[in-house]
Amino acid sequence: MLWVKAFHIVFVASWFAGLFYLPRIFVNLAQVSPQSIAERDRLLLMARKLFRFMTLLAIPALALGVWLWLGYGIGRGQGWMHAKLCVVFLALGYHHGCGVILRKFERGLNTRSHVWYRWFNEVSVLIMVVAVILVVVKPF
Ligand code: HEM
Repeated sequence: MLWVKAFHIVFVASWFAGLFYLPRIFVNLAQVSPQSIAERDRLLLMARKLFRFMTLLAIPALALGVWLWLGYGIGRGQGWMHAKLCVVFLALGYHHGCGVILRKFERGLNTRSHVWYRWFNEVSVLIMVVAVILVVVKPF
């Protein structure tokens, strides 16, 4: 069980590295002047690769979590686990939202400012903090 938990934490941390960094690329993309086509294309290429990679990392992160929960029965029927699953759905929604934003940038349809993306970036941090507190402290 400890090997499963160890790799769960490794993949969760890797997935969230992407959820922390991709919005940072959006901040830069929102600041690129329309004339800087080369810079825009370079940032878009980075964002596409990162989104693909973090999607691949999310799969084992979640699968190993489900293995701990349903396979080993950890947290089954407990409040902290139910709350954590709600936070996980928020993380998946945030991940999906990053994909929608990326496609908007690719089509030149972004209307939001870099300031908006700086606040958007903080949401992934908040999700990580709440999930870790729920699973380590188990407050209820
Ligand atoms: C479907 C999604 C997930 C499920 C079912 C799940 C389930 C679990 C379970 C059952 C444990 C073992 C808890 C224990 O031994 O006390 C665990 C550990 C952990 N999970 Fe998840 N998890 C999921 C996603 C996540 C996410 C998204 C994060 C962080 C953002 C996360 C962070 C952690 C951490 C840090 C631990 C280690 C806690 C400890 O050793 O005390 N998990 N997870």
